[in-house]
Amino acid sequence: MEEKIKLLEAEIQGYAFSDADSLETYKRSYTNKKAVINDLVAEFRTLPSEQKRTLGKALNDLKTLANHRLKEGEKAVVAVGRKADQPHDLTLPGDPFRTGARHPLSITMARIIEIFNKIGFSVAEGPEIEDDWHNFTALNFPPNHPARDMQDTFFASKEPDYVLRTHTSPVQIRVMETEEPPSRVLAPGRVYRNEAISARSHCFFHQVEGLVVDEGISFADMKQSLLYFAREMFGDEVKIRLRPSYFPFTEISAEMDISCQICGGKGCNICKYTGWVEIMGCGMVDPNLFINTNIDPERYSGYAFGMGVERIAQLKYRVPDLRLYSQNDIRFLRLFEKV
Ligand code: PHE
Repeated sequence: MEEKIKLLEAEIQGYAFSDADSLETYKRSYTNKKAVINDLVAEFRTLPSEQKRTLGKALNDLKTLANHRLKEGEKAVVAVGRKADQPHDLTLPGDPFRTGARHPLSITMARIIEIFNKIGFSVAEGPEIEDDWHNFTALNFPPNHPARDMQDTFFASKEPDYVLRTHTSPVQIRVMETEEPPSRVLAPGRVYRNEAISARSHCFFHQVEGLVVDEGISFADMKQSLLYFAREMFGDEVKIRLRPSYFPFTEISAEMDISCQICGGKGCNICKYTGWVEIMGCGMVDPNLFINTNIDPERYSGYAFGMGVERIAQLKYRVPDLRLYSQNDIRFLRLFEKV
């Protein structure tokens, strides 16, 4: 048996793989089920155990060698074949390498920031877990305002109250507390409200807040900046309208609508057949906020606005259901690969 192993070893070592046929012959002789090596294995099983001990390793080595040479042979035959009748086809498409895509909300937020950067806004940040002072009290919410109610606000703790911020407006307070006017800042970020999740509302969403404080700032300044924003974001054809509204932290207050980008103003279910869609709240900073943050209300005035990023992305990319933003469905996310 030792002889046979030696012989086979020499044969296998010296085997020449010249073409596909020679590879087949090799397999038939050495590696298939019916190959000679398996005859040897069968014979080995019948040997007395002290012979098994001496021959086992040699037999194993032979099998390893046979498999190793098979791999070499396969490679060699593929290479030969390619050279002979299939040179590399340079017209074949490559294997595309898929990179990730940016999330539509990130794209939209980055675009909003870019637009306002051009007219002098920088970016400010605040914490997502806010104290009552910044989220409500300093923003002029009366003590029993319904927005403080458990219905809308997630409380992280009570007395002292810490909440998941319900809007980005607390960053207005943080900016005014820490910097001298003039200020011109944007505060993008996530906000939370205790609302049932549906196609139209979610328990978290994103806002971009804006704040301008300086001497002589007027409502006309605000309107012009917001018109500039709408045109940059949606194109020169877009129309804006400001409707009177109420927020505790602005006086006077308004909501801004834009002409519906889905139906072009003709009426559809996104604009509820009005031709207009609300995209933000805005107004002149209430002087009480200046008093709360030690800014002279006689000297300074300002405006603020807060827009919903989901809504703006919806109008820009026709997203039919808010839940799509947070489901991580790869089919949805891939739609933004080229944006
Ligand atoms: N914070 C308001 C909201 O969440 C939006 C807003 C911001 C309104 C700034 C006026 C000024 O609805």
